[in-house]
Formats: sequence, structure tokens, C-alpha cells
Amino acid sequence: MNRVLVFLIAVLLSLTSCKTDRSQSNSKTNNKGLIAKNAMVVSARAEASKIGNDILKQGGNAFDAMFATEMALAVVYPYAGNLGGGGFLVYRLNTGEVGSLDYREKAPLAAHKDMYLDELGNVIKDKSTIGAHAVGVPGTIAGIFAAHKKFGSLPIDELLKPVIALAQEGFIVTQKQYDKFVHYDSIITAVNGKQTLINKSVAAKYRLKNEALAETLQRISKNGRDEFYKGETGKKLVNYLQSKGSIMTLEDLEFYEAVWRTPVQFSYDDLNIISMGPPSSGGLCLAQIMKMIEPYDIGQYEHNSPEAIQVMVEAEKRAYADRSYYLGDPDFVNIPINDLLDSTYLNTRMENFSFENITPSDSISYGILSNYTMEVSEYAQYQEPEETTHYSIVDSFGNAVSVTTTLNSGYGSKLFVDELGFFLNNEMDDFSSKPGVPNVYGLIGGEANSIAPQKRMLSAMTPTIVEKDGKLFMVLGTPGGSTIITSVLQTILNVHEFEMTMQDAVDAARLHHQWLPDQIRMEVDLFSEDLKQKLTNKGYFINEEAAPITARVEAILVLDNGTLEGGADYRGDDTAVGF
Ligand code: DON
Repeated sequence: MNRVLVFLIAVLLSLTSCKTDRSQSNSKTNNKGLIAKNAMVVSARAEASKIGNDILKQGGNAFDAMFATEMALAVVYPYAGNLGGGGFLVYRLNTGEVGSLDYREKAPLAAHKDMYLDELGNVIKDKSTIGAHAVGVPGTIAGIFAAHKKFGSLPIDELLKPVIALAQEGFIVTQKQYDKFVHYDSIITAVNGKQTLINKSVAAKYRLKNEALAETLQRISKNGRDEFYKGETGKKLVNYLQSKGSIMTLEDLEFYEAVWRTPVQFSYDDLNIISMGPPSSGGLCLAQIMKMIEPYDIGQYEHNSPEAIQVMVEAEKRAYADRSYYLGDPDFVNIPINDLLDSTYLNTRMENFSFENITPSDSISYGILSNYTMEVSEYAQYQEPEETTHYSIVDSFGNAVSVTTTLNSGYGSKLFVDELGFFLNNEMDDFSSKPGVPNVYGLIGGEANSIAPQKRMLSAMTPTIVEKDGKLFMVLGTPGGSTIITSVLQTILNVHEFEMTMQDAVDAARLHHQWLPDQIRMEVDLFSEDLKQKLTNKGYFINEEAAPITARVEAILVLDNGTLEGGADYRGDDTAVGF
């Protein structure tokens, strides 16, 4: 009897101490992330999450924590955290009020439609991705100041104090970060013509200080938003860019404004989902995919089973086809949002779906909308009043913010402004340089996303907040270029349909289809041979090699008892901190 008991206890112990098995595509380990009673920040780095959490502990709200976390990421995570990029915020206040802020970069005033084409009309390699021509007008500082002005409660200098200290005292370079320094060393050195602060001789576990960035942040702390757009920092930035051949001027910086926009909202079963609208495609594509999936009740199938995958990827193909045609900056193109989300339209899109036969991408085009004619302007239709990373925050008052911010590629254009201490984006590549020619993520765009002065390039960023029964349920988002939308999708489905914990939902193996190229991208070595064979037999082409899935989801789930569970992606150095 005693022996049986000992054996049972041993089995139980081995089960509870068991680490998450990431080798199974359908692993559901009931592995929980950090649990916190009051508030939480989940971001790509522990230092940034901690700074945000400290602000919340001091009584700051989610928007105060946003300001500090965003700037802390620029210090410790220069791969994507930034002053030289842009992003999107989706929020939900404790009153239930929701909204979104667009601080996406813009094309400079001197930009034009064919700026990346040669005399023969061909795309000039690397021009939209590397160096000064790739840089869009940065929006990050305008964004965090706009959010703070509307909702912040603590003074800016208090929010920036720990961030400036972090830049001055330095942070420990992690192994994963060091690997990136090595990987990008030659291109960063080539683009800058010399070695910069970020280089391969900075070892893992080394303390990296960024004194130039500390000084920039000190000036911003003292002089506010305009320091970046009109002050010494702005002037230094423009002088630097022009010395590298950029078309950007001080006027471009002066004209920049972040814009409050209506988020995309839609229901899925008993969930209400709030996500970013244009100029991000994220919310709209997510809504289209989820509305196309809803009638199939995919929770009846096993997680990552051939049936569940088929429903998902067939809906994804149709949504990405619409994306490529209809979506762009809403200030320049009339986007038929309601028509694209109409349930009759979406049911028609899925009419030819069958579990027996795949729908090849070349037989799918964007859907036809009878009462719509696209009007694309060269100029904004109205005057505005006046590598990506995501973080999710819930404060102790019950407010939530979901923010995705980016330089586009890892270290953006690779241009590092020594004097100011930060990298500049290569967001111009998110425009369609030429209809039908894919960008770095293989995404194809058309007229709606063509380049024009002051226009914002189409994004896939999908900062999202989910409500259940009218209450805050989940806050999530991720980097990952074109795979952002499908990673957010899978994370929500993992919790809602496949009953995973937040941490399991974030860690579960992911896959992706974006219409073109016609392939299912899968995370390498995480899906069984049997599953891949079954999908191949149906006619799907599986790609585990060429285009890795780089999403790293940061999420917070409100549990039934009101506590928060963090989901910090194991794929990076991501960390949840809460209290
Ligand atoms: O806005 C977009 O969709 C892209 N610039 C995002 C880039 C990205 O996620 C890179 N990170 N892995």
C-alpha cells in the first residue's frame, strides 16, 4: 500500500515539475504564466516590464506605464524598441470605453510613387529596406506623448527617470540579443560605414550603456514632445539623415501628428474583439478571418488537427487577398470597412471551401463589392487635426493597453544615429513599391498602398483587446511582419476554442498562410510528420524553411477569479512582471 502511494506521489511530482514540451504541435500542458493580483506588464525584456510595473506600483496608470515601457524598450531592445519608428495603441478603460492611436510613420513630403523604381520601372534592390531612403518620418515620440496627454497621470520626468538611469547605467546583454548583434554586425557596419554601439564585439553578459540615448531622453524629459520634432534632437536627426542622402526635412518632422482613430470591433461567439484599424490591416484581417471561421466551430476539432488548420488557412488566404487590394492609409483611400466585414459577404467568400479540396491561391482573388469604387488620392483627403515589439499592460484600476511598435526589420534601416543613440526605421518598405512586387514579408499590395507624400504605409500590426461578457478578458499582440495577424488569431483561438492557459496559448506551435505565396509556413520541427503528410496529401505546400515565423506574443488573460495570467513568449527574452 505504502509503495503504491510512494509511486503515485512520484508520478504526480514528475508531472508538476515537468517543463513545457514544445516539441508537440498540439501540446496543452496547463503550464501557467506569471499570476498577479493587481497589475501586469508583459514585454520583450525583463528590464522594460519591470520599469513599467514599477510605474504601476507607484500608482501610475496603464498609459504612464506605456510611456516608460516604450522608452525602456528603446534602451534595452534596440532591435525593435525605438524612438526612430512608430506604432499603434489599442486601449480599453475601466469604464469600457475603447479607442486606438495611430503613430505610424509617414512618407516624407518629397516621397513619390515610383521612388524605388529604376528607369525601366523595376524595383531597385534594397532601396526601400536599407539606409536613408528607407526611413519614414518617425511617430513614436508623438504617439507616447499623445497617449500621455489624454490619459497619463504622472509627470513625464518621473516616467523617464528610471529609463534614463537604465541607459546611463547599462543593461546586461542576453545570449539571444548577442546572437542578433553577431548576425547583424556586418550589415550595420556596412550601412553606417563604421562600427556602431551595436556590434559583435559586445559580448553576452556584457553591460551595455547608451549615453547618447540617455542625453536625448534627458532633453525630451526637459523640453517635451517638440524636442524631437522641432528642437535640437529633430535638427540633429534631419542633418544626419540628409548627410546620408535622405529626402527628409525638418518640415516633415514638424508636420508629424499621431492620430486617434476608431478601432475595429467585432464579435466572435461570446467575445467582443477590439483591434487596430487602417492604416493597419491587422484588425480588419483578423475580423475577416475570425468571422469566416466562426460558422465552422473549430473547437470541435483537435488543436492543430488537419481540419482546424484547413478552416484557418482557407480563411486566411481570402482575407490576405482582400488586404492586398483594398487596404491602405484611410486618409488617402476610401476603404469599404463595413462591406468587408459584412457577414453575407464573408459567407460568400467561404462558399467554395471544402474539407476535401483545397482552394489554390491562384483561384482566389479579392472579393467583388458591388457598390464600391476605389478612390486613391495623391494627397490626404482631409487635414489631420493638427523589428517590431509588442507589450501588454493592465493597471490596478482595470485599464488595459495593447501596443505594438516597430522599426520594421531588425534594427530598421540599420542606420544608427551615434549622436542621438538610436536606430531609424525602414518602414517605407511596407508601401507597395510596385503593384504585385512583394515586400520583405512577401506581402503584395496595389494602388491602395502606393507611395504618396505624407501617406502612412499599410501595416499588419494587430494590438488587440478581447472582452468576454462585457468585461476585460485578454490583452495581446506580437511582432512578426505578415505573421502578426495569424499569430494573434491562433493565440485567441488557443484560449477560447482549445481551452489553453495564457502561457500555453502563447507557446503553442504556430503556422501561417498569407494567400501568396501559396504555402503554409510552419514553425520548424514543431509539427508532426503525420500531420504534414496529411496536409500535403490534401494538396497543401508546407514551408518550414525559407520564411521563419518570428512572432513573439505578449499577452495577459483575466482569469475567472479576477487575477491576471501573463503569457510571455518563450521564443525571446520576453518577461511578465506584475504585483
Ligand atoms: O507594420 C508592419 O506590419 C511591419 N513593419 C511589422 C514588422 C515586424 O513585425 C518585424 N518584426 N518581426
